[in-house]
Amino acid sequence: MKDSRRGFLTSCSAAAVASGFIPYVFSQPRTLADETQSKNDRVALGLIGSGSIANANIGAAKEWIDVVAIADVDAGRAAEFNAKHAGGKADVYDDYRRILERKDIDVIHVATPDHWHTKPVVEAMLAGKDIYCEKPLTLTIDEGKLIRRVQKETGRVVQVGTQQRSTFNLFVKAMAMVAEGRLGRINKVQAAIGPAPSSPAIPVAAVPQGLDWNRWLGPAPSVDYRFFQGPAVKDKDGKDKLPQANTNCHYEFRWWYEYSGGKLTDWGAHHVDMAAWALALNGQPLAPLSVGGMAKHPVEFKDGMPVEKDRYNTATEFLFTVEFPGGTQMVIRHDTDNGVLIEGDKGRIFVSRGKLSGEPVDALKDNPLPEDAIAKVYKNLPMEHNERKGHWANFLHCAKTRKEPISDVHTHMEALNICHLAGISARLGRTVKWDAAAQQVVGDEQANAMLARPYRKGFEIEMG
Ligand SMILES: NC(=O)c1ccc[n+]([C@@H]2O[C@H](COP(=O)([O-])OP(=O)(O)OC[C@H]3O[C@@H](n4cnc5c(N)ncnc54)[C@H](O)[C@@H]3O)[C@@H](O)[C@H]2O)c1
Repeated sequence: MKDSRRGFLTSCSAAAVASGFIPYVFSQPRTLADETQSKNDRVALGLIGSGSIANANIGAAKEWIDVVAIADVDAGRAAEFNAKHAGGKADVYDDYRRILERKDIDVIHVATPDHWHTKPVVEAMLAGKDIYCEKPLTLTIDEGKLIRRVQKETGRVVQVGTQQRSTFNLFVKAMAMVAEGRLGRINKVQAAIGPAPSSPAIPVAAVPQGLDWNRWLGPAPSVDYRFFQGPAVKDKDGKDKLPQANTNCHYEFRWWYEYSGGKLTDWGAHHVDMAAWALALNGQPLAPLSVGGMAKHPVEFKDGMPVEKDRYNTATEFLFTVEFPGGTQMVIRHDTDNGVLIEGDKGRIFVSRGKLSGEPVDALKDNPLPEDAIAKVYKNLPMEHNERKGHWANFLHCAKTRKEPISDVHTHMEALNICHLAGISARLGRTVKWDAAAQQVVGDEQANAMLARPYRKGFEIEMG
């Protein structure tokens, strides 16, 4: 985002100063609300992918942004989003590259399925845009290498949508406790990730009107569209309710390794990120030595590839141990508690989206954290909003000030690489040893071949 553009995000407004109002929780000098207070200061945003999470994200950031352009390969979804979030006034495209060409748009939100993240993110950086991209940032480890290189070369501000990094009352507070030594030396972290579904065989179906299936697939292999929805069933109030549809497209793409890493990256991007942040705050280099354990898939895998092609294929159950130098361990397991357990030699805490608990938390009553402890782990960036809204505020503030956002691509990839290695180990059914300096699996060519995926012809990344 260029500072000169329509005075966007100007410094603290005279009115706010005159009123003596100091709105930040930790008394930071100004708020994003001040910075975007004039109508002309609002951010013109280009949206790529107008599905379920885009609705939540744009809803959270609407105080500061106007969606002026929408790209979606499903015309019906784009039209619905336009009516709901832009009063029907946004320009709608089927090809996101039309948005990247526009000189009046500096800020992009990428909310496409995972296999469609890296290409638009790299091309948007090269086009001079700042980007808020949904997690997981990439489908592969090599895509992460590319994004990190291009980010360094272009200096663009890129926030990954791991909003737990901006959840101050739970996750960031837990990190502050780690940083303040309330747990002692951290020797084990556990990321518990909720259960994942399987499906029956899903029949090939007609592509719905308005959906460009070829472009939805994009860089992924060309396959048939699949869809099945059972008949309506009565809910507890006796009303007819349609069950969740099974498909290889909208939302359900998560359960196909072709487009996602399943729960390991879907929620791993959140909870492994928290576990990794705790280790990093404790001085642990995020350079795993090995990742191994067990995974159950709903289909048979041969040479790392699913044998059956007509149903969900990502792991439904898993238990992985990640070994780090010095004997530190990270455990990644599917479990219903869906949160992060951080264990140190002075105590342990559990943190999730609903609670922060453990003896060291109880002890805060008598020995509270220093006033600036949370601000310090949040890199002293403004904190006037929590969770998703706070994550957007962080992105927009950093785009204005050219600071690194709280979920930058470099720290995100250090955590996500662990999830990707677990995915490779799951698909191959064996432990992978990792050389973090070389970014290579040690002595396993089959695993190394899974660090990247070929892009389908016509959907390669355009490097300019
Ligand atoms: N941060 C969070 O808590 C959170 C929560 C849910 C989803 N997500 C992430 O958000 C992303 C999207 O998930 P979702 O549940 O909204 O999926 P979705 O299927 O509901 O929406 C994705 C949209 O992208 C569109 N699309 C696909 N290819 C496109 C292309 N080339 N150009 C433009 N549009 C394209 C689809 O047509 C669809 O409308 C995923 O990566 C997911 O992991 C994050």
